[in-house]
Amino acid sequence: MCKDFQNFSKKYQFSQDVINLFWEKYGERTEKIIQALKQPSKNYAIRVNTLKVTSEKVIEILQEMNIQAEIHPELDEVVLLPVKGPFSVPEYEKKVVVDKFTAESLIQGADLFAPGVLRASKIRLGDMVTIIDKTGECIAAGKAMMTAREMLQLKKGLAVKILYSRYKIFSIRESQLFKKGYIFDQSFPSILVSKILDPQPYEFVLDLCAAPGGKATHIAQIMRNKGCIIAIDRSKPRIKRIKEHILRLGIKNLQVFHGDSRNLPEKYHHCADKILLDPPCSALGVRPKLQVFTTKRDIINLVRYQRQFLEAVANYIKPNGILVYCTCTLTTEENEENIKFLVDNFNCEIIEQSFFYGYPGEKIENLPNWQKLQRFYPDIHDTPGYFIAKLRFRL
Ligand SMILES: C[S@@+](CC[C@H](N)C(=O)[O-])C[C@H]1O[C@@H](n2cnc3c(N)ncnc32)[C@H](O)[C@@H]1O
Repeated sequence: MCKDFQNFSKKYQFSQDVINLFWEKYGERTEKIIQALKQPSKNYAIRVNTLKVTSEKVIEILQEMNIQAEIHPELDEVVLLPVKGPFSVPEYEKKVVVDKFTAESLIQGADLFAPGVLRASKIRLGDMVTIIDKTGECIAAGKAMMTAREMLQLKKGLAVKILYSRYKIFSIRESQLFKKGYIFDQSFPSILVSKILDPQPYEFVLDLCAAPGGKATHIAQIMRNKGCIIAIDRSKPRIKRIKEHILRLGIKNLQVFHGDSRNLPEKYHHCADKILLDPPCSALGVRPKLQVFTTKRDIINLVRYQRQFLEAVANYIKPNGILVYCTCTLTTEENEENIKFLVDNFNCEIIEQSFFYGYPGEKIENLPNWQKLQRFYPDIHDTPGYFIAKLRFRL
C-alpha cells in the first residue's frame, strides 16, 4: 500500500480518519484488514439454541435441505455455514438506490424491504432491477414486488425479491430452523462473549446494552432458564426485537426493560453478580463493509459515551463481581484504552478468559494483564473484528 491516504480512501471508500487510525496501528497490514472488511467471512456462524435442540439435529435438518454445514471445531453449540461468492451481478436498466446498511445485508443475498429504499423511479411490478448503493456500486439484482411509488411510500413489505447477489448464504431468518427458535444468527466472537461471562444458574446478571438480544438470550440459554437476567436497552424498536426472540427461543429467565442503563434506580446498586456491557461502538469490525464514514471526532464521542457506562458498572456490581466488556470494533481507544480507564479509576483487574481463540489485546503502557484481553482480526480469524475483556471488581 502506498502512503497516499487520499487515493487509498477513495479506492476503498473508507474515511481518511479511519485509514490514518489503522495505518498508525497496523502499518502495511492496513490494506489487508480493509480488504477483509469489505467481504463477508468465509463461514457464517449460527448459535444453536440448546434449550430446544442439539447441534447434530440442526446439521441433520440442514442436510435434509441440501445445505452444507458443520459444527464449529472449538465450540459445539456453533454451526458454520459456508458463504458462497463473489458472483457477478447483472446490470438492468432500472435501478433502485438503497442505504448503506441495507446494501450491506443485500450483498449477502437478503431480500430488499421497502424501508431500505432511498430512490426508485418508473419501476413496475415484476420488472427486473439492479440494486445500487448511494455511490453507484452494484450490490444485487432481482424482481420488483412493488412499483417505484410503493417502494418509496410504504413503510413495510417486500420491495425486491433478490435473485442475484455478490455473496450468498442460506436465508436464515426465513427458515423453519429460525422460526421454531432452534437458532440465532450471531458471529463466533459474539457467541464467545456470553460463554466468557460464564453465568451460573443461581446468579443475577445485568445486560446493560442488550438489544436485539443475541448475548442476553445466550446467557439465558447457558443458565438453563434459571436465575435472573435483566436486559436493558434505550431503543424501543430494538426492545421489541428482544421480546420476539425471547418468545421464539423459549426463554423464561430474562426480563427486558426500556431505559438508560447509565442511570439505573438505587435497587440495582451493588446487586449484580455479573454484568455484560456491549455498548454502542464505531463497529469498524463488522463485515461486509461497503463504505466507512467514521471520523476521529465520532470515535472521541463514542469513547466518552462508553466511559459513562463503565462508570455506572461500578455502581451496579457486587463485591467480587465480574464484568465482560466487548465491542465489534478495532480502535484501541474504544477497547484497551477504555479498559485502562477502568483499571486506573476503579478497584478492578483484568482476568483470564476461559474461551480464548483470538489474539491477545494490544499492549498498552502501564496496563497489567493486557495479554488476557482478547481480539479477533478480520484478516486473520475469518470473523468480524472484535474485542473482549473480562474484569473482576474487588470494590
Ligand atoms: C452493540 S448494541 C448491543 C447488542 C446486543 N448486546 C446483542 O448482543 O444483541 C448496543 C445497544 O446499546 C443500546 N444503547 C445505547 N445507549 C443506551 C443507553 N444509554 N442505555 C441502554 N442502552 C443503550 C442501543 O440501543 C443498542 O441496542
